[in-house]
Amino acid sequence: MKTSLNWIPVLAAGLGAAWLVGCASTPQESGRIRTEPFGSADGQAVTLYTLRNSKGAEARICNYGGIVVSLKVPDKNGTIGDVVLGYDKLEDYVKVTPYFGCLVGRYGNRIARGQFTLNGVTCTLATNNYPNALHGGAKGFDKRVWQAKAYDSPAGPQLVLRYVSKDGEEGYPGTLFVKAAYTLTEDNGLRLDYAATTDKDTVLNLTHHSYFNLAGKGDILGHEVMLPAGRFTPVDATLIPTGELKPVAGTPFDFTRPTAIGARINQEDEQLKFGGGYDHNWVFTKRIGDLTLLARVTEPTTGRVLEVWSTEPGLQFYTGNFLDGTITGKGGWVYQHRNAFCLEPQHFPDSPNQPNFPSVVLKPGQTYRNTIIYRFAVK
Ligand code: GLA
Repeated sequence: MKTSLNWIPVLAAGLGAAWLVGCASTPQESGRIRTEPFGSADGQAVTLYTLRNSKGAEARICNYGGIVVSLKVPDKNGTIGDVVLGYDKLEDYVKVTPYFGCLVGRYGNRIARGQFTLNGVTCTLATNNYPNALHGGAKGFDKRVWQAKAYDSPAGPQLVLRYVSKDGEEGYPGTLFVKAAYTLTEDNGLRLDYAATTDKDTVLNLTHHSYFNLAGKGDILGHEVMLPAGRFTPVDATLIPTGELKPVAGTPFDFTRPTAIGARINQEDEQLKFGGGYDHNWVFTKRIGDLTLLARVTEPTTGRVLEVWSTEPGLQFYTGNFLDGTITGKGGWVYQHRNAFCLEPQHFPDSPNQPNFPSVVLKPGQTYRNTIIYRFAVK
């Protein structure tokens, strides 16, 4: 076993059998996981976990918001580089963040006017993206300190995060027990497995919000995107779906063949105008729960390729339209308009108010599951 002063062996203290059992890890010591203090939030100590695989890939994740602070993968020449935006310090994440690298919940994306009705009862949420609710409210899962434990699992170094969201937190009914397990796999995948249970009927839509730039600099307009989806959910001016599932054919939303992000992003198009670029949900024809490819992105200069796989039926593709040069991130990079993109596997936005969209209701006795994989390769 490789150990050094920095690479502290992590002793897994059992399988966390208390709730949501199912972690396939073997508790053992590991040289693939390093921990270090990362400051504090809400009066609680926050830890930064560094996971490494044998291919030189490295993910640094903290237990505040489950934020992926950095993600380093090789380019076509074998040079390892960071492909996500974020900050060097926890205090910057606490101060202001456009959801850099975080776990998103209870409801990823928007709920119209911050209201929905469940079993005849109207639930009221913070309209933190006026006039709508966005990404779990004023203090969503991205701003919570999660319980954390690292494991050297057979699939790779793993960080298991747990959070208990109280009944009524941010306006959502039911006590929710959430587990989010990140695993850095040997095939350079960062895998996220969510599981959740509730003690009352509730709604749930968890996702992940890394901002990717596969070149590690500049804008993302030259990245080529392929989305194997025939339809998307058009939105109104506040980015709430109209309810229509619109064919992408003949529109700037057709990414069924690899196309540069910048090729059509400035076209005269009402949907692009509403989003300020791409900020829409693509619809996949699949059985929900089946792990399928939702996106492949290629960056021509570095040869880096990102594939997104998920069990979810939708994918929010957001092109960093709100980045405007007001945030200085890691290494002094000033994040300008469209310096990154997000690919957020999810159920469709505003599903609690859209009877024709797949249901996001979770009931006691059921276990919510959602797997998201960001896998890196070169071309
Ligand atoms: C999501 C939304 C965007 C934006 C970002 C965060 O991707 O769809 O509209 O709110 O999060 O800035």
